[in-house]
Amino acid sequence: MPTLPPSVHLETGRGGLPCVRVTGRSGEAEIYLHGAHVTSWNPIGHAPVLWMSQASRFSAQAPLRGGVPLCYPWFGAHAADPNAPAHGFARLAEWSLIKAAEVGDDVTLVFRLTDSEPTRAGAWPHRFEATYTVTVGSRLVLALQVTNCDNETVTYEEALHTYLAVADILDVGVTGLEGTAYLDQLAGPPPMQEDHPIRFTGETDRIYLDTRATTTVEDRSRGRAVTIHKAGSDTTVVWNPWTAKAAAMNDFGDDEWTTMVCVETCNVRAAAIRLAPGASHTMTATLDVDPLASVIPRG
Ligand code: BG6
Repeated sequence: MPTLPPSVHLETGRGGLPCVRVTGRSGEAEIYLHGAHVTSWNPIGHAPVLWMSQASRFSAQAPLRGGVPLCYPWFGAHAADPNAPAHGFARLAEWSLIKAAEVGDDVTLVFRLTDSEPTRAGAWPHRFEATYTVTVGSRLVLALQVTNCDNETVTYEEALHTYLAVADILDVGVTGLEGTAYLDQLAGPPPMQEDHPIRFTGETDRIYLDTRATTTVEDRSRGRAVTIHKAGSDTTVVWNPWTAKAAAMNDFGDDEWTTMVCVETCNVRAAAIRLAPGASHTMTATLDVDPLASVIPRG
């Protein structure tokens, strides 16, 4: 464990799982070592930005529901192994905290995960090193770097599966993906496209293709906009389970779909990352919060 600055504490969190609590000058956060999972981020002066389900399990055997699950090295079901965990093993693994530092008003934490006997024995025989740098402040910066430590080229998928809290999904718009082709995971191919901001009127599960666009979640009922800038990411997933899927998930409250939306910075499907031996790739998401009025001129 590295030396921790005064604004960082290692605590026992829910379910007895270790978690890191950050009480920085410009933002506060909670991050579980289980999955290096950011479960809350509160920039000072703002309501919590990330959504967590009241029904989330807190167990070393299950993923947490909400916050920012880290999906790696595959997204969704594993292509060949139906017994492999959905969205990869990284969100189920205990990560190590290797660095914690105050940088100006921000606090930066670095988590690390490498291959181990159990990871190599499962659906992923490869050697890798993943470092996840989380900067907590008035912005939240999430940077996942993966290095291929194998002696052959490896292809992987990844996602920062960000759950955002909204006051009312019926009064939410997502801008930035207008005119971008998407794969509707519910309808299947061919890709579709819309020319207007995304509005939510039913179950939504879309992979936006070939896009590095900045997206903004306009939470009109709350008067807040959350903007996600990204780098090293060529796909964006937008997800809301709506009624039936929410009811079918046992770690998701039946009515909780009304107060969340996922906008996920990712590299999935054809955008999977191909890394030569020794090569690294970094994917970054930066979240900003602003009053909606400063983003959308009201007229
Ligand atoms: C989204 C996927 O990213 O994650 C959905 O696009 C999926 O298809 C959702 O249902 C939740 O996945 P999980 O494994 O956390 O229940």
